[in-house]
Amino acid sequence: MRAIVLVGGEGTRLRPLTLHVPKAVVPVVNRPMMFLILSWLKSHGISEVILSACYKTDILKKVIGRSFQGMKIDYIYEKSPLGTGGAVKRAEQFIDGTTVVMNGDILTSLDLSAMLKFHREKRSGATIALTPVSNPSAYGVVETARGGSVLRFLEKPSPEEVAGKVLNINAGVYIIEPGMLALMKDGKVYSIERDIFPKFIGDGFFGFVSRNIYWMDLGTVAKYSKACRDILEGSYKIKGLEVIGKNVKLGRGARVVKPSVLGSGTYVGENSRIGELSVLGKNCAIGKNCVVERAILWDNVKIGDNCVISDCVFAGGVKVGASSSVSGETVLGEGTVLAPYSRLRSK
Ligand code: GDD
Ligand code: MG
Repeated sequence: MRAIVLVGGEGTRLRPLTLHVPKAVVPVVNRPMMFLILSWLKSHGISEVILSACYKTDILKKVIGRSFQGMKIDYIYEKSPLGTGGAVKRAEQFIDGTTVVMNGDILTSLDLSAMLKFHREKRSGATIALTPVSNPSAYGVVETARGGSVLRFLEKPSPEEVAGKVLNINAGVYIIEPGMLALMKDGKVYSIERDIFPKFIGDGFFGFVSRNIYWMDLGTVAKYSKACRDILEGSYKIKGLEVIGKNVKLGRGARVVKPSVLGSGTYVGENSRIGELSVLGKNCAIGKNCVVERAILWDNVKIGDNCVISDCVFAGGVKVGASSSVSGETVLGEGTVLAPYSRLRSK
């Protein structure tokens, strides 16, 4: 079976992390977000994936490639963004049978196989995965009848409307039949959530509710960091996680506090402490007498001696001068250079 994954967004809420790379390539515990999604799709029998791309397509293609664990990967591009609906319409040539369509920023343990079974049993035209969340205003809120028919789809209700409520939301995974795209014209911009789903209501449109699953939209820095911590703590399990990469070297008295992950070629200077809950990418270099805790450092980050780095995300190649302190959810974009004795705290 085929899956179409929407990866054309600019990842604005992840900036500056997405200034140089598309969201799908953002490393989640040292592997591109898309690899985690592809592993999940593969585990449910998907054999072919079409990435619907628009932003930073060269990097996307270079990093993700043409195959993944035996799955075939193809690409379809938009010159300018067609929105989540227009992008699916553009991929119509690939939708010649029951097809999975999903957002490209979802980390989940959702049972896609059970969802497919439900879709078939209901003879559904389109099935949408739902999961309950509290304060759901950042999502599409979906009401269903007893048998699962969708009664209402409301994209991003105002916070006042849903404050304090636990409601089923669109989990960003759909199963669709080819005929369902007839509502859209080629080349036009549509939001599948605002323009299309409301029109499906009453016409074989079902919601598949999953409780007690892991589900996270990695579209903001806070949720991205949370997902990384969840993986470190084991609440989302990934296969073959390399805790300490090849050629990692620790200076005398240096310590790594679990759970933490260090990418290959990384060096930790004398008497420094890494962790807990830190991820260091490949070829990072941490000076002497440093503390790096609850921090996500991408590849090639260099930290001078006597620094304290906590609760931060640094993109690749960041350099922090000696005796600096960076904390409080600070996010630094690729290649940022901080002078020695810098003091940075975002919150
Ligand atoms: N090809 C293409 N073209 N892809 C796009 C476009 C476009 O114009 N616009 C967005 N995308 C991709 C993004 O890259 C992302 O993977 C996915 O579509 C969803 O976009 P987001 O920007 O992440 O949407 P959201 O998180 O605010 O809301 C969506 O996801 C929620 C669940 O995580 C909606 O589908 C909500 O209803 C849903 O609850
Ligand atoms: Mg999202």
